[in-house]
Amino acid sequence: MHFSTPTALALSSLILGGSAAPAIKRQSYPNIDADILQYALTLEHLENAFYKQALSKWDQQSFTDAGFPAQFYDDLKYIAHDEEGHVLYLEAGLTAAGAKPVVACTYNFPMTTPLSFVQLASVVEGLGVSAYLGAAADITSKAYLTAAGSILVTEALHASATRGAVGEIPMANVFGTPLGLNAVYTIASGFIVSCPSTNVALPVSAYPSLTLVSGAPSAPGAVVDLQPKTIPTGSFFVTFVSGLDIIPVAPQSVANGMVMAVVPTMISGQSYAFLTTDNSGNLTDSNILAGPAIIEVTPSSPTFNLTIT
Ligand SMILES: *[C@@H]1O[C@H](CO)[C@@H](O)[C@H](O)[C@H]1NC(C)=O
Ligand SMILES: *[C@@H]1O[C@H](CO)[C@@H](O)[C@H](O)[C@H]1NC(C)=O
Repeated sequence: MHFSTPTALALSSLILGGSAAPAIKRQSYPNIDADILQYALTLEHLENAFYKQALSKWDQQSFTDAGFPAQFYDDLKYIAHDEEGHVLYLEAGLTAAGAKPVVACTYNFPMTTPLSFVQLASVVEGLGVSAYLGAAADITSKAYLTAAGSILVTEALHASATRGAVGEIPMANVFGTPLGLNAVYTIASGFIVSCPSTNVALPVSAYPSLTLVSGAPSAPGAVVDLQPKTIPTGSFFVTFVSGLDIIPVAPQSVANGMVMAVVPTMISGQSYAFLTTDNSGNLTDSNILAGPAIIEVTPSSPTFNLTIT
């Protein structure tokens, strides 16, 4: 994959508001956008490394032996190529804008077979979509929003291809699911062993982890078991996030270090659960106690209304 200077300049001018003179415009470089760009690059490095590890380990025959169609291996190569392209695009844009791009970390991906890799890929791609969607509202440059949206579209296509390949419905929700930076980082940091100390510190921190112990995949109305590191003291809620819905519920029961909760009917597709101090339906650093846990919820059959025209 080669990467041309004009593309690098295109992104730098997006960040800098269309100027071809980065040195002059650097003062107006929006710090929040630079942070988000480094955050996006952190995630793209992770995805790039993930596909390269898997495709170094398993060849086309391994995937066909695991039951995937012969052509699916090509899809994976396209995805790897896309993630590499995203890394190079963000690196070049940051460099051209005078920032030092973060470099790749050391990762640990729980994948032992082609199938477990593709299942994990579907989750990682869903997380990528949630990351770009959740960061969108923080981006101050409209042009940069277009670049981020452009990457989001590609990540959503990856999510669709990998979900379809493992039998999950790609379009299980009417809406995509936005997640805040800290929530995404909480999950992503689970794959990161260590990062070079020379990487710029990102303005993100992980929440206490929350593990889905049973209920994968789940269904609306089913019970999921969630395990936090420690059960919160005092009353708390399980807040589900799926598409544009944020639905807090009281736990059904709490026992043996486990929190049981009923999956609300609106939850569908790759969704997330947090433990929260309140049932406000607001998710902020101040009310999130733990999470997110990733919950895959298989929808019931779709319905639509022929009289709505
Ligand atoms: C939820 O957030 C909104 C917007 O920030 C705020 O107006 C509202 O008071 C919050 N609700 C609760 C219960 O904290
Ligand atoms: C279908 O949509 C029409 C028009 O909005 C509404 O009156 C009707 O109740 C809907 N039917 C169902 C089964 O939801």
